[in-house]
Amino acid sequence: FHVDWDLVTAEKAGFDHFMLKEIYEQPKAYRDTMMGRISEDGRRVALKEIGMTLEEIRGIRKVQIVACGTAFHAGLVGKTVIEDLARIPVETDVASEYRYRSPIITPDTLVIVVSQSGETADTLAALREAKRNGARVMAITNVVGSSVAREADDVIITQAGPEIAVASTKAYTSQLIAFYLLGLYLAEKLETRDEKWIANVLTSMNQLPEQVESILDQANVLKQVAESISKHSNLFFIGRGVDFAVAQEGSLKLKEISYIHSEAYAAGELKHGTLALIEDGIPVIALITQEQLYEKTLSNIKEVKARGAHVLAVINAGHEGEVSKSVDEMFAIPRTLPLLAPALSVVPLQLIAYYASLALGHDVDKPRNLAKSVTVE
Ligand code: AGP
Repeated sequence: FHVDWDLVTAEKAGFDHFMLKEIYEQPKAYRDTMMGRISEDGRRVALKEIGMTLEEIRGIRKVQIVACGTAFHAGLVGKTVIEDLARIPVETDVASEYRYRSPIITPDTLVIVVSQSGETADTLAALREAKRNGARVMAITNVVGSSVAREADDVIITQAGPEIAVASTKAYTSQLIAFYLLGLYLAEKLETRDEKWIANVLTSMNQLPEQVESILDQANVLKQVAESISKHSNLFFIGRGVDFAVAQEGSLKLKEISYIHSEAYAAGELKHGTLALIEDGIPVIALITQEQLYEKTLSNIKEVKARGAHVLAVINAGHEGEVSKSVDEMFAIPRTLPLLAPALSVVPLQLIAYYASLALGHDVDKPRNLAKSVTVE
């Protein structure tokens, strides 16, 4: 009796690729990142790892979020979360730009660096630049003991577990969870939101893992979408607000592993140039999860549709009736609060990227020209 066995196959735990395994580990990653950080009565966030006093928190005048790639995209959502919940102005910077634009860093600036590995050279350099200028630095990272974790003043560890695939998935969504927790924590300290409101968000956050599972159960639908997308050489992702942030992440994911060119656009910006690129049959993936922007995004969808685009809309469950007339395909995500939607809407985009890469026969886990951790400038 002979069993073929090797360590890598064993580590993939029955999945064909690490990326797919990591996509499926997201419900656990959400639960683990929340675990121990929500009070037993479910009404408050407890971030014991944050050493700032109430006075120091009250003294924060501005936040700068600095990161690279997918971690930067998590930061784009983080900006909306912190501004919305804690009403502190937030700037976002790609780490490789931050240092060279002589950013205004003051002692009342809180700089948040986001890095799965905690070893990205540009992010680490940004952290050091921030500290040199007297800012307090908080890190959101997945690796305990990483350079970023060691050098930051406060560290929120995402509990995603090791991420092997070059394309980041569960690390990104765990970073979103970390931002939600941080936003609520600051809101409570700064009294920008009341306890009942915070408890309501926490209830919705607790539902996210199961909601992700229900999306994963529909992977087959997304596989078909990906297979038709894989026949194209160009496509667009559009959205408004946090949907635009997720569009950017979806586009990066698709590019890095399928090598299909795509662009993410703020839906309202299309008519300022990009609409000229829309031609018959071009796929457009439109995110339309934000109630307050619903009508606006729908009218942008109609603009591309009228020019021949083939539109797949990622919508909230329950909106099928209204949207179906304006799009070619729909994928519904379970209902949640608008701010939390990115933690769900990115999952179908990850699966589309995965299956498109697979359909094209690429090395999903190790795309060409890329490294998991970029430790050089
Ligand atoms: C994500 O899919 C990419 N491979 C890449 O953008 C990555 O997120 C970036 O290099 C940042 O890495 P870090 O989170 O380890 O700092």
